[in-house]
Amino acid sequence: MKTIEIGRSGIRVPALGMGTWAIGGGAWWGDQDDRISISAIQRAVDLGIVWIDTAPIYGLFHSEEVVGRALEGRRDKVVLSTKCGLEWRHATPVFHKTVDGTDVYRDLSKASIIQDVEESLKRLKTDHLDVLYTHWQTTDTTLYPVEETLDAFLTLKAQGKIRAIGASNVTPDFVQAYLAAGGLDVIQEKYSIMTRRLEKELMPLCRELGVSLQAYSPLEQGLLTGKVTMDTVYPAGNTRNNNPNFQPERRRKALDLLSGWEDLCETYGCSKGNLVIAFTAARAFPIHVLVGARTPEQVEDNAHAMSVSLSAEDLARMEADLQALDL
Ligand SMILES: NC(=O)c1ccc[n+]([C@@H]2O[C@H](COP(=O)([O-])OP(=O)(O)OC[C@H]3O[C@@H](n4cnc5c(N)ncnc54)[C@H](OP(=O)(O)O)[C@@H]3O)[C@@H](O)[C@H]2O)c1
Repeated sequence: MKTIEIGRSGIRVPALGMGTWAIGGGAWWGDQDDRISISAIQRAVDLGIVWIDTAPIYGLFHSEEVVGRALEGRRDKVVLSTKCGLEWRHATPVFHKTVDGTDVYRDLSKASIIQDVEESLKRLKTDHLDVLYTHWQTTDTTLYPVEETLDAFLTLKAQGKIRAIGASNVTPDFVQAYLAAGGLDVIQEKYSIMTRRLEKELMPLCRELGVSLQAYSPLEQGLLTGKVTMDTVYPAGNTRNNNPNFQPERRRKALDLLSGWEDLCETYGCSKGNLVIAFTAARAFPIHVLVGARTPEQVEDNAHAMSVSLSAEDLARMEADLQALDL
């Protein structure tokens, strides 16, 4: 699998990374054994999945704490990203959502971002982050002007506390605004073979402006591994109940698509998830594929995708199958 440079930061990484949202536990993903999480993260690093992504809100700090424990003695081997701008220390005029009974707000002010980073560094047991993302944007930019947000990032960069500037869940206007205000290396966005809306505007814009794209939920939260059936149900509050691709019509399409690729799995000696990861990473625009995993076994399976190199003919066939899905 190819490597990508994160924007113009000079940081180069293999195109497959590991996300740790599920490792935070809570109602979104259900209970999680921290010892298994730690083994999963350490196994990922050993197998060359070196970009580890987390966020304070994943399990209300718990994911960051677990990542910090897992990376003790391994920090120099990884590219570490976390996020800022979602708060439950204080209320703001911008309510985000209630997470496990806690009201969470958005705050992209300089003071709040700096405090977020100082606290994340402690939980992650490190003195710097490789990438810091704003987690969600605030459409009313009079409240938190992008210039103020970028001032925080540039201050942190000058202090050596972050190396690259990221923004997540953006519109094209935000990409332009971040660049005009001082810089943007990478955006983190939902992108999978079932969710391709950003191919229209954001992807061409990022290509033109030299901003990298990190794709989140590329396996559609497990749906595209092939292990989910039409009968699979999730407990109330589970994040998959809010994912449109788990609704019956789209789920059926996803499962039919995967069944049609069984011969490809045999040809490449890989799992369905591997095929999806390899296809996603093979788009013309260099994409960093951020796959969530919570067990060493899942990590081992996903790591295999790094050695799957799809032929031009098979890529074209998969693309045609996707077009025919009429999503
Ligand atoms: N910026 C944002 O707003 C945002 C939003 C969402 C995600 N993210 C980031 O992106 C990362 C990835 O997205 P995601 O976790 O939502 O979805 P994903 O990567 O599409 O799916 C991850 C889930 O799929 C299952 N899975 C993964 N590998 C598997 C394998 N080999 N075999 C079987 N099952 C497997 C696991 O769930 P089970 O064990 O439960 O089956 C895992 O938690 C997150 O962890 C997070 O770091 C960012």
